Amino acid sequence: MRRLLVTGGAGFVGANFVRHLAAHTPVEVTVLDKLTYAASPDALDDLPKHKVRLVVGDVANTELVVELVAEHDAVVLFAAESHNDYALHEPADFVHTNLLGTFAVLEAVRRHGVRLHHVSTDEVYGDLADQSAARFTEESPYVPSSPYSATKAGADHLVRAWVRSFGISATVSNCSNNYGPWQHVEKFIPRSITNVLSGRRPKVHGKGEHVRDWIQVDDHSAAVWAILTRGTPGETYLIGADGERDNLTLVRSLLRLMGEPEDAFDLVPDRPGNDLRYAIDASRLRRELGWQPERADLEAGLADTIAWYRDHEAWWRPQKDAVEEWYAARGQA
Ligand code: NAD
Ligand code: DAU
Repeated sequence: MRRLLVTGGAGFVGANFVRHLAAHTPVEVTVLDKLTYAASPDALDDLPKHKVRLVVGDVANTELVVELVAEHDAVVLFAAESHNDYALHEPADFVHTNLLGTFAVLEAVRRHGVRLHHVSTDEVYGDLADQSAARFTEESPYVPSSPYSATKAGADHLVRAWVRSFGISATVSNCSNNYGPWQHVEKFIPRSITNVLSGRRPKVHGKGEHVRDWIQVDDHSAAVWAILTRGTPGETYLIGADGERDNLTLVRSLLRLMGEPEDAFDLVPDRPGNDLRYAIDASRLRRELGWQPERADLEAGLADTIAWYRDHEAWWRPQKDAVEEWYAARGQA
């Protein structure tokens, strides 16, 4: 595998994946990205130009996608609208990118016989009732609960159908909540950190009892590379690093690590339909592909992430007020 097309490679997870490839592999990468509000082309700026090139365009543009796919050995599909809070207010872009974008990529890889890895989320499995419920596995039923997760579930179904009906060579991964550098300040961890750094208090939805299973983004990148290079086409792999925390515990950790009182946050109205708990059983990925997380110490990862946001204020500051105004207009700031 020499030439890789990475859609959405200027977003949080995609850009970290491209940075991972540039650091650890010899592959040449073409990033196809529409550069929406969520993109961070800055994250690609310091990478060698002979290894990484950026094409600005829409993943649902079939002609462009067919042309690019023909020039590459494999495609990794990250491009998506990814934020649940926005999906509840502006779902049209989610249907366009997450469904029509996946469709365009599938048709292109079918036409040119190119290997595909589709990056998806644990949210397609809905939520777990409580702490006693068994974690998600590759066999868990699809019961998405939000406009975002429904479009991701639809995309997964398209990929599986193209494998079975047309015999394309594709894998799917469903990962839990990522955190780390270059994550947009709309999301919980960077929003909480940058709230403190900009003189605001973190905002916790509902009573903060929701549980997420956190993974450092570089561990996700390594897992995607393992699946792309060593996974079995047609299969699905769950990715997670045993990082379950409820939102209250998480925000208290962040506040403590930032030298603030642990109760210096506000409770705000919950997101409608907020999933209660996600938790991943990644034993198949560990057993079959030998992957294991290198950064499973969540407290250490949060400390590194806080340091990164302190050092990169020039990157996040221009987005910050608009995000907080958006949340304020919905009573969540
Ligand atoms: P993000 O919102 O940070 O980045 C998405 C990227 O896709 C942006 O660069 C954006 O410009 C690009 N994009 C959006 N619409 C596009 C279009 N029509 N054409 C081309 N590019 C377009 O999202 P993220 O958090 O980096 O998530 C990336 C992928 O990983 C998504 O598929 C998401 O479902 C999946 N995922 C994310 C997480 C997580 O915790 N962030 C966990 C599991 C899976
Ligand atoms: O599980 C994987 C998913 O994780 C990905 O598929 C999504 O793309 C990604 O955005 C993420 O989804 P979540 O909705 O879980 O992430 P978010 O950071 O938006 O919210 C995490 C939890 O924190 C959720 O219970 C809502 C809550 N929350 C969020 C924000 C922004 C707060 O309590 N306060 C906040 O300010």
